[in-house]
Amino acid sequence: MQKITVEEIKVLGEYIHGISGIVLDHSKGYLIESRLRPLLSETGCKTFSDLFYKTRSDSSGRLKYKIIDAISTNETFFFRDSTPFELLRNKILPELIDRRRQQYKPSPLPLRIWSAACSSGQEVYSIAMTLKEMLPDLRSYNITILGSDISDTVIAQASYGKYSKFEVNRGLSKHYLHKYFNQVGSEWRIKDEIRAMTQFDKINLLKPFPEVGKFDIIFCRNVAIYFSPSDRSKLFQKFAHVLEDDGALLLGGSESLSGMNLPFESNNYLRGIYYQKKGWNADTHNTPSSAEQKTLPRPASPIVHKVTPGTKPVIVRNQPVQIKEAIPKSKPASTPSQSSSKASTFPSAPTTPQVERETQAGKTLTAKQEKPPKKSLLSALQETKRTEKNRLIDKQTTDGTSTGKKSRGSLLATLAARKKKKEKDT
Ligand SMILES: C[S@@+](CC[C@H](N)C(=O)[O-])C[C@H]1O[C@@H](n2cnc3c(N)ncnc32)[C@H](O)[C@@H]1O
Repeated sequence: MQKITVEEIKVLGEYIHGISGIVLDHSKGYLIESRLRPLLSETGCKTFSDLFYKTRSDSSGRLKYKIIDAISTNETFFFRDSTPFELLRNKILPELIDRRRQQYKPSPLPLRIWSAACSSGQEVYSIAMTLKEMLPDLRSYNITILGSDISDTVIAQASYGKYSKFEVNRGLSKHYLHKYFNQVGSEWRIKDEIRAMTQFDKINLLKPFPEVGKFDIIFCRNVAIYFSPSDRSKLFQKFAHVLEDDGALLLGGSESLSGMNLPFESNNYLRGIYYQKKGWNADTHNTPSSAEQKTLPRPASPIVHKVTPGTKPVIVRNQPVQIKEAIPKSKPASTPSQSSSKASTFPSAPTTPQVERETQAGKTLTAKQEKPPKKSLLSALQETKRTEKNRLIDKQTTDGTSTGKKSRGSLLATLAARKKKKEKDT
């Protein structure tokens, strides 16, 4: 059985940190080894260094996401920790709706909630079911619950909304199961009325956020614990930018913002804690009098598209895909299709042939390309970091079009020109 070396732990640990923010120091060598080992045989790599080099030279980015999938902990369940959902039902949402009703005339009333790092979607649907129970006339609201994760695989399952018996037995009452799910063989699929309240997108929380708009409530639970203190702090700063002034931020049970210099303050209610922006105080906040009530502009909607009842589309940013079948976590490589309509084109849920293609593509690389001259793994990592950085600049500059079509020089010139024009316009 292939053992991982100390140097490989260091290099792969840094590489994983660079692509996902997940911190794995030398003490987590066993974890890197055990979670990445299956990828060795899947990709035909003999050593962990080979896997690193192969991932680095995989321009499709698939291997990178396989590594993220293998490393990240996707543990989640319905109504996890219960308190955040009690806070939502008894405190945050009633107060927010009251304020909104005073401030905004438009009906339906917009309500935007983000479940960041939602894994396979249980948190998203727990929020949606809570709202459905609380708000009898959903037509009076324009509800958006955005679920996002770095992993294609979990986002695919989340958006399809199908769960095993084991999964629905974790945190979901019998009453909710029968009320909000349809049984499909031995599995359960969320009903369209709940699913229609949701959207899903692939978002790496450590990268600049895409155009997501502003949110009234953000759930970000049980993910920041895997990040470094500095990444964590940057992440919460970014949340402050996309949270409405009177919005609420909910963290995991073992997470807290204390000790970080952030524009949030904590509020306690019953046994729960949630965060609001500093300076916001519901008691002293002046809501407009009824005479002053007017239609205030609401923030722009995000780019992601709504899941329509009865259909199965998922829009992952810049990449519309058709999900035809839920992708079981345990066997992502060969999920047979049950529906005859449209095949899944989801990139990170490869069928066996896709895996084979990838392996074959790997074989077409010359040994030299696959294994650069053995300078050192560490210098190879430095190179990877530079390439990633350049790729990011190119990607941002081209607004999502693929890199390599324009020269880097001309892209930077375009960027500079755009910046100048923007400055002129403002
Ligand atoms: C333990 S689960 C938490 C799920 C859910 N929030 C909950 O509390 O039940 C952590 C999730 O974070 C995701 N994740 C890890 N790094 C991420 C990143 N940089 N950006 C977005 N999601 C990330 C993982 O893919 C995983 O699904």
